[in-house]
Amino acid sequence: MTADAFYAVALAATARAYPPHSNLHVGAVLEAQDGTLIEGANVEFGSYGLTICAERTALVKAVNDGHRSFRRVGVARSDGLPISPCGMCRQSLADFGLDMLVVYRSPDGIVERPLRELLPDAFTLDD
Ligand code: THU
Repeated sequence: MTADAFYAVALAATARAYPPHSNLHVGAVLEAQDGTLIEGANVEFGSYGLTICAERTALVKAVNDGHRSFRRVGVARSDGLPISPCGMCRQSLADFGLDMLVVYRSPDGIVERPLRELLPDAFTLDD
């Protein structure tokens, strides 16, 4: 699947977001090593700090379904403007490999970059 098509899956996942406080609808998709796609969207709570981002929703769903290894993660916001994973999500994804590719819309268009570039000198399970 091309990066553009993968980004489109994340964009479609924004339909399931529950962001009553920020109204920012974010979608994510993980591609497991076996090719399975697991989608997620952000979920917000009245105690705002409890918010779960789209990427971590997808990650928790995937891990709960038995997946432990991922090729790619994609993220999108429903209005199609640029977005990339927040720091907490980058750190959470890092436990599953810094070679994972991250697909998102940058100001220059859709990009596919290894997580290690988005989280330099990462703290990892090896530490
Ligand atoms: N959000 C995500 O879902 N992923 C990110 O990487 C950045 C932020 C969500 C969290 C919150 O529900 C909303 O966007 C506004 O911060």
